[in-house]
Order: sequence, then structure tokens, then C-alpha cells
Amino acid sequence: MKVAIFSTQSYDRESFNRVNADFGHDLLFLEPALNAATAILADGCNAVCVFVNDVADAETLKALRHLGISTLVLRCAGFNQVDLQAAKDLHISVFRVSSYSPEAVAEHAVAMIMTLNRKTHKAYNRIREGNFSLERLTGFNLHGKKVGLIGLGQIGLAFAKIMQGFGTAVFAYDPMPKDVPSYIQLQDYDTLISTADVISIHCPLNEHTKHMVNHQSFDKMKDGVMLINTSRGAILDSNDAIEALKRGKLGYLGIDVYEQEDKLFFRDLSESLIADEQILRLMSFPNVLITAHQGFFTTEALTEIAETTLQNLTDAEKGSLNQNQL
Ligand code: NAI
Repeated sequence: MKVAIFSTQSYDRESFNRVNADFGHDLLFLEPALNAATAILADGCNAVCVFVNDVADAETLKALRHLGISTLVLRCAGFNQVDLQAAKDLHISVFRVSSYSPEAVAEHAVAMIMTLNRKTHKAYNRIREGNFSLERLTGFNLHGKKVGLIGLGQIGLAFAKIMQGFGTAVFAYDPMPKDVPSYIQLQDYDTLISTADVISIHCPLNEHTKHMVNHQSFDKMKDGVMLINTSRGAILDSNDAIEALKRGKLGYLGIDVYEQEDKLFFRDLSESLIADEQILRLMSFPNVLITAHQGFFTTEALTEIAETTLQNLTDAEKGSLNQNQL
């Protein structure tokens, strides 16, 4: 298939070209993000491949259909950026990478917890400046703490397994739990957030989870709680998080995702003026750690993403049954 791959970075080109040697699709790498205005760049292709911050709303899908495109492959797990009803109406088949190295994201969530807790980022900078003081670097033992997960799917389970190794008590809220190992106790949302020392978000973004973690949630949480979001930015109400940080309710915040990340993440803005007041405020807190959607970013995950995406294209071309079709 000839596929237009939007929002490509050097690492996408490297992994897709390497893996495509076994598939033989015709890959057109495009740097711009997909939206209604850029859809025309896919002219002459049969399929389009997108990432987390591309826009596949009804208008964009209509423009793609007009070009004769009937296959949309997502090189990510979340699919909140696609209007699935519009795709169905327009007879565009949509595929995603439903599973790739959940450990990659789980391990990144753990890295965020340990960085915020033991302040290794601050120690690194101090030592480079010849400052060997331990003042204000006090952390806490994770061992014996209560960790609460919102969402117990593949990533949540991988994260829970690591947390069990740390000797924490693991609890989870999930309205549709599947496999629940015996060491994880399910709880309702309010009980979970009001008793956990560390809360980690691992559910998808949808109409039920948008701004699910908001000022009412913060009011119920323990003072000084740690919150980690590696899922999708809009699950957390960032303004409410800023208020909770200002009053000390939220003791630590680690975010790998941000509601307005499409205008910021995956690009070098170090020489630009950043107009987003919310992210600037979040960046100003000493107890906030922000990474730019890099939870998935391991060699293993990139290879699996390329393999599954290219297999999805092959299956779409042959009309084969495929469990990744949405
Ligand atoms: P999954 O589909 O295996 O698990 C999601 C779980 O959330 C399911 O068990 C589901 O029942 C549960 N859930 C649904 N609605 C919920 C609600 N209202 N409250 C609590 N739980 C709810 O998905 P997986 O693979 O574990 O991924 C989770 C999310 O992680 C994805 O939707 C995506 O947004 C995000 N993600 C982030 C990445 C990153 O690089 N930071 C990379 C990959 C995924």
C-alpha cells in the first residue's frame, strides 16, 4: 500500500524503514500533522498513518475520503483523536496498535515517581556545579506506601507488577476490570483517591474520563499526594491541578501528557516564545516533572509499533480479519 505517514520524526523514519524491509509498503514520510488543511498531502496514497496529536475529525476524514483513502492506521494505542462514527459513515477502516510494550509506559511512570521522590534530577545538577549538599533532597520510602491506579489495563497491570516489587500496597479503580491479580485490590474511585499516597492514571481518554481528575478529586485526596499521568492530558484538569499545587494539596505532579500538548510536544521550542500560560505555570513549580509524551519511547516499543502498523496495512489490503481494527 502507498501510505502517507504524518507527523514523522527521524526515529519514525528509522524504525518504519527498517521494519518495512519485510513488508514492502510504499512509505511517504511527512513532517506536518494531519488536519483538514494538510490532508491534501496524502494525495496519491491509499492509506494514512497518524500519531497521537494528529487530527482525524469528520472534516479531515471527509477530505481523505475525497482523495480516495479508505484506510487509517494509528501508530499508537489511544484513539481519542479519531471520529470513529465519521470514519464508519465514510467507509474508512481504522486500525490501531492495541498493544505494544506496555512495560515501556509503566517503567516511565515509575521513573517519574522516583525522580519526583528522590530528586535525582536536582542531585545531578547540583553535583555538576560542585554542590554536594543534601539539603532539601529528602525523599520517602515507597515501600509500605499505598499506590492507587486509575485504569487496570495492560499498562496499569505492568505498572502494578513493578509497584508490587517495591513493596507497596496496590489498589485500582477500573469500571470494567479484566484480569485482576490477587495482590491488587479493586476500589471505587472516591475511596481510591482519598486513601492513596501515589495515584497513577492509566485509563483511556473518552467522554467519561475527560477532566475526571479535577478540583473535587483533589479535595478528597490526602495532603501532599503524588499524582502521575502518563495516559492522556485531558483526563486531568490542569487548572485545578495548578490550584492544588498552589495550596500544597498536591505534593508532587508528574505528567508525560498535557491537554494542549499538540501545540508543544515533539518539537524544539527552545528559541521560541511559549504562549501557553498553563504549561509555563506548571513548569514553574519545583515539585512538577514534565516529560513530552515519551512514555512509549523505547527501541522495543518503536519496533513493535512499526511491525504492527505495517501488518495492519497488509491486513487492510488483503481484507484479512484483524483484532486491531476499531
Ligand atoms: P487498555 O485498554 O489495556 O486499558 C485501559 C483500562 O482503563 C481498561 O482496563 C479499562 O477498563 C479502563 N478504564 C476505562 N474507562 C475507565 C474509567 N472511567 N476509569 C478507570 N478505568 C477505566 O489500555 P492501555 O494499553 O493500558 O493504555 C492506557 C492508556 O495509556 C491509553 O488509552 C493511552 O491513552 C495511554 N498511553 C500513553 C502512552 C505514552 O507514551 N504516554 C503510550 C501508550 C498508551
